[in-house]
Amino acid sequence: MTGTPAADEPAIDARRGNFRLKHVAEQNIERQASILDEMAAQPAVRTLKAWALAELAPAAGETAVDVGSGTGEDVVAFAERVRPDGRAVGVEPSPGLRDEAVRRAAGAPVEYVDGRAEGLPFDDESVDVLRCERVLQHVDNPAAAVREMARVLRPGGRIALIDTDWATAILHPADPDVLRRMVDYFLSGSANPFSGRQLRGLLADAGLEITGETAGTTIEPQEGARQGFVSMMQLSSAEAGVITPAEADAFAKGLAEAADRGAFHLSLTMYAVSAVKPRAV
Ligand SMILES: C[S@@+](CC[C@H](N)C(=O)[O-])C[C@H]1O[C@@H](n2cnc3c(N)ncnc32)[C@H](O)[C@@H]1O
Repeated sequence: MTGTPAADEPAIDARRGNFRLKHVAEQNIERQASILDEMAAQPAVRTLKAWALAELAPAAGETAVDVGSGTGEDVVAFAERVRPDGRAVGVEPSPGLRDEAVRRAAGAPVEYVDGRAEGLPFDDESVDVLRCERVLQHVDNPAAAVREMARVLRPGGRIALIDTDWATAILHPADPDVLRRMVDYFLSGSANPFSGRQLRGLLADAGLEITGETAGTTIEPQEGARQGFVSMMQLSSAEAGVITPAEADAFAKGLAEAADRGAFHLSLTMYAVSAVKPRAV
């Protein structure tokens, strides 16, 4: 089949970097790992990961689960705290990312298992600690996924969710009309782009008691004007025909010129919420 993808269907190039399960067959694992590494290097992400670990406080002997574990860094952090008798498990539906996580774990006592947030491979009330970071935005039914997380948590078990809210993305400078079309196209490929603001409600609706919340904003360096998310969004919007080649060129040129004088801005806010499963009364 040839031609322009439908407006609500991301171009193949975008699908290669898209973490939605329905695109798993097209995913380019090298690119995905590099997107995750770039994000993990952001100070705001480091701060949120550390906040979640402190809130969860995994202890020796506990079972700690990371849902949508990607390249596995947070599972290794769990393993350091639950050993020698506990379990640190990453649930990850992408076989390529599971392989990459195993390679990176380099023999650490971790397990990576196939599974989805909506159907976790654990018995009722068998998990002490659970985290899920930047995953619910890719999940079609986040409420069902969080109810599933509540099912596997034991009474007194702790949970932390982290996610982006794409309404907080600010990009400057850009023609507002061109930017709106690009952003609308980008968001149409996302299952749940405003996940960040929903975390509290998802946890509360699943019967969990909120124990903390925080937020962190990533600010791209000036090099970000020419690469990564910005160039992916520009290329895929042009490939899909939602902006013309001339608009794509003007967009890229405007951002590059701004970066040359230190005037480029791209920021995005992520939210984190922790909760506990109430003990039976
Ligand atoms: C943006 S990455 C975040 C990875 C990791 N949590 C981190 O903080 O680096 C999203 C992850 O969610 C996974 N994922 C996508 N859909 C999922 C689902 N329905 N259930 C569980 N994981 C899913 C992807 O394969 C990917 O590893």
